[in-house]
Amino acid sequence: MADTILVAYASRYGSTAEVAEAIGDELRKTGVAVDVRPVDEVGDLAPYRAVVIGSPIYMGKWLPEPQVFIERHQQHLRSIPVAYFAVGLTVDAENPDLLRKAEASMDQVRMLVKPVEIGLFRGRLENSRLSLTDRTIIKLIRPKTGDFRDWGAVRAWAQALRAKIARA
Ligand SMILES: Cc1cc2nc3c(=O)[nH]c(=O)nc-3n(C[C@H](O)[C@H](O)[C@H](O)COP(=O)(O)O)c2cc1C
Repeated sequence: MADTILVAYASRYGSTAEVAEAIGDELRKTGVAVDVRPVDEVGDLAPYRAVVIGSPIYMGKWLPEPQVFIERHQQHLRSIPVAYFAVGLTVDAENPDLLRKAEASMDQVRMLVKPVEIGLFRGRLENSRLSLTDRTIIKLIRPKTGDFRDWGAVRAWAQALRAKIARA
């Protein structure tokens, strides 16, 4: 029976993975079984009654893996509650323009499968962890670096989602 919730994510430097784990912990609190997995390690969706899918934002877009996953499983995903979350540095609740841009990173996947909820969370950027290519890009953009993740916001979102998935 499909009684487990899946939280599937992509992550280049681990910050989205940790957000996915926090969402999973929060969803587990009512005793429901939750699997938190990198999206490319997920095969069969039959055990899952709901799926939460997340990606970091790179150059305005989601990483390819979760997009390919949603495309591949779109038919199944349309039959169960699905939620999306994105993690990025430009997610700024005070700035509607930046929020809109962050939300636009989900446009394609939202067209494929309509989510019951979306979440946008601030991420983490630490120069010392970056690949040479990413460091070169970051040198040009010069964003503020650091860990801006707001665990309270992530957990509050997961709590609200729990209620929504239960109703769906
Ligand atoms: C090369 C590069 C490009 C990025 N582009 C964006 C972007 O367009 N929008 C955004 O909000 N964040 C952007 N970020 C920030 C990442 O989304 C943020 O660091 C995120 O937490 C990384 O997640 P990960 O550790 O799971 O890979 C970028 C980071 C790098 C290194």
